[in-house]
Amino acid sequence: MTRRVAILISGGGSNMVALVDSMTGDHPARPCLVLANSADAGGLAKAAERGVPTAVVDHRPYKGDRPAFETALQAELDKAGADILCLAGFMRILTEGFVRRWQGRMLNIHPSLLPKYPGLNTHARALDAGDTQAGCTVHKVIPDLDAGPILGQATVSIRPGDTPDTLAARVLAQEHILYPAVLHRFAMGDRAPLIIDARDTPK
Ligand code: GAR
Repeated sequence: MTRRVAILISGGGSNMVALVDSMTGDHPARPCLVLANSADAGGLAKAAERGVPTAVVDHRPYKGDRPAFETALQAELDKAGADILCLAGFMRILTEGFVRRWQGRMLNIHPSLLPKYPGLNTHARALDAGDTQAGCTVHKVIPDLDAGPILGQATVSIRPGDTPDTLAARVLAQEHILYPAVLHRFAMGDRAPLIIDARDTPK
């Protein structure tokens, strides 16, 4: 049975594009909806160009009433018949009630090697700590922020002279490889962590 994947975005949606573009041929899933919490999300146009239905549930009118915001999100997910949810740069915190409803069927990508650096500014924090490597993680979503069983990680080297921006670009390139690969495995029922080592080869 083909799985129906809804992708939640807040911004440019480059991970969403990587996911959508991966779901072709004999892939066991297809995108059924790209859902944004702002009409300004650049990813909406990219989804529409690809023929994927889009919807917007603006969080602002809900003014901190997260359950009401999530009821509106859920209505769009129900309409689309989603059975897997991929958070892809979705920058709203979800309540325990919503997470429990989707637990085991909701994935997130985070730009750090979790459990290091949950939350924001991950690349600056890795650089400030003097880390020699960084990366990204795809995990199942649980009520705790940026936690949950790890389904895949990609590691890159931190290079001398890296800034948060140069490091973010190197990690993002790996996000676009890791997330589709993990989603494919997940849709096939494979929960074993996928480890990608994209560190520089020592000269
Ligand atoms: C990505 O780097 C993703 O890992 C990060 O936001 C960016 C979204 O880019 N997500 C988080 O920080 C979630 N805590 P995109 O819109 O181009 O996919």
